[in-house]
Amino acid sequence: MAAPASWLACDAVGADLARLGPLLMGCAGGDDPRMAALTRHLLAGGGKRLRPALLLLARGDALAARPADATALDAAAAVELIHVASLYHDDVMDRSPTRRGAASAHSRWGNGAAALAGTWLFARAQQLLRPAGPAAAPAAARTAAALCAGQLREAENAYNLELGVDEHLTILHDKTATLFMLAAELGATLGGRSAPECAALASYAASLGLAFQLADDLLDWTGAAATLGKATGADLRGGVYNLPLLTALAAPGSEAQALRLILHKRAPDEADLARVQAIVLASGVAPVRRRAAALAAQAGAALGALAQGPVRSSLAALAALSVARQA
Ligand code: FPP
Ligand code: MG
Repeated sequence: MAAPASWLACDAVGADLARLGPLLMGCAGGDDPRMAALTRHLLAGGGKRLRPALLLLARGDALAARPADATALDAAAAVELIHVASLYHDDVMDRSPTRRGAASAHSRWGNGAAALAGTWLFARAQQLLRPAGPAAAPAAARTAAALCAGQLREAENAYNLELGVDEHLTILHDKTATLFMLAAELGATLGGRSAPECAALASYAASLGLAFQLADDLLDWTGAAATLGKATGADLRGGVYNLPLLTALAAPGSEAQALRLILHKRAPDEADLARVQAIVLASGVAPVRRRAAALAAQAGAALGALAQGPVRSSLAALAALSVARQA
């Protein structure tokens, strides 16, 4: 996030995020120039840096009002590295040609190199978490396990027209929301937050993460590839039946039946895919928008346990922005 984020009411956290970019580039790759080129590839594309921002804010108003110390900044870098690590692996699994406006790592260097880069970044994140205390790295490991489990269940359910909404939402919780929860947990611990504050931040992060992923999945139908920096329509082509599609399938009327028939085809052509897109836009998008907005409101409500101040207002604005974004 190069320019100060509009939702951020804490100048010091904005300055910390500006310091984070060079820190991330500096710690990528270690001494190995080939690994450095590989691991810096996605980091150079920027990104919203929402997870580090959440970690820094979760520490509370007093700490968020002054420059973060090395421990907090390293922990913020670690959550971003875990996120980026997961994207290296995700792009291999999704066969995604682009990410952050550039060729994905696997399209440039191959699946093996991209997978190694992701694993390397996760290992580096573990090192960066050491100063944050004995519970930090195990919490990150638990989160990585949840990401993998969610991602595996998503892959196992590819092309599954009978995937239930509850199971789908559990997958999204595991593959996305748990990393937001880790950021909140690490920040809350570093800030010495009380048990009720930790619980509120965990609840906020769980709802925010789910809202964020639903907004991401909506953009796969409604967004523009140029703005997003990645291909749209990818979920459908890869057999990832996301919530807008599952919602359109469950809608009353003949369109849902037409959708089912197209998705049963062995090799749907471009006209079929355009028809799916039209049906999902007509009956799947609006209910998911409402669900995402309700989750963002739920995230905002969880903040009631925190003191009024710049951190609380920033987090409330982030929840609102997460479902209103176009990229
Ligand atoms: C993006 O989802 C991917 C994730 C939210 C998590 C992916 C997790 C793994 C691949 C497990 C490996 C984890 C580690 C820590 C190495 P998406 O495909 O819905 O989003 P996209 O549209 O941005 O690709
Ligand atoms: Mg993907």
